[in-house]
Amino acid sequence: MENSTNKLPRHIAIVMDGNGRWAKQRHRPRTFGHRAGQKAVRAIIEACLRRGIEALTLFAFSSENWKRPQDEVGALMELFLKALDREVNELHGYGVRIRFVGELAAFAPALRERMYAAMEKTAGNAKLALNIAVNYGGRWDIAQAARQAAQAAVRGEIDATQIDEARLAGYFSLADLPPLDLFIRTGGEKRVSNFLLWQLAYAELVFSETLWPDFDAAHLDAAIADFAGRERRYGKTSAQVGGGT
Ligand code: IPE
Ligand code: IPE
Ligand code: MG
Repeated sequence: MENSTNKLPRHIAIVMDGNGRWAKQRHRPRTFGHRAGQKAVRAIIEACLRRGIEALTLFAFSSENWKRPQDEVGALMELFLKALDREVNELHGYGVRIRFVGELAAFAPALRERMYAAMEKTAGNAKLALNIAVNYGGRWDIAQAARQAAQAAVRGEIDATQIDEARLAGYFSLADLPPLDLFIRTGGEKRVSNFLLWQLAYAELVFSETLWPDFDAAHLDAAIADFAGRERRYGKTSAQVGGGT
């Protein structure tokens, strides 16, 4: 039998979608769903810690989510603020290194300061790299990587002709982490919605019908089992990567 621990994804990314529909099913406001979604976040972080996952990247707020009604955006910001106050110390105790990825300058100073404080406090932790994507867009990430490379060229540190895939890769938000292995989207939609575009090149994709507030450790295990059963060929043939003929 195959040893499934060999096939444990090192880096999982999740589009946590379906909070609004979960609330609607219960005839409650969308914010009720977002609050329920936070409990699922906590459960999945703990499940990843127990399973020895090295990196978990969660899509919490996209660069397009600002276009939602103002009261929903405001409620989400309030929830983020409270979650930071509530959860950071405990996650720090578990050895979680928290990082916020995205254009943080757009957030209110009170929220931004808490994000930076959480990152600083947990910077030395090594158990689980937890990345929270906020005001994140995959296209933004590509643009900021290109900008950094251009700036390095202007400073004379690199020659523009040296900017190839490997060099550009180093400027992306999660460049120091293991490559993305498993992408999960809950809530039934089969799209990327401007999440990690560059990093998705060879990730395995799993789409779950489960709405995010209902997504638990058993659903995560099902996604990991699905991943473990995949043959990753990276362009080669099955025989070349040790599979059948
Ligand atoms: C995901 O759930 C949470 C955020 C985007 C902040 P949604 O709020 O998109 O839930 P649905 O897709 O409307 O059900
Ligand atoms: C993606 O979900 C963003 C997050 C989960 C944070 P959306 O609900 O915003 O995506 P679309 O609008 O269905 O593409
Ligand atoms: Mg949605």
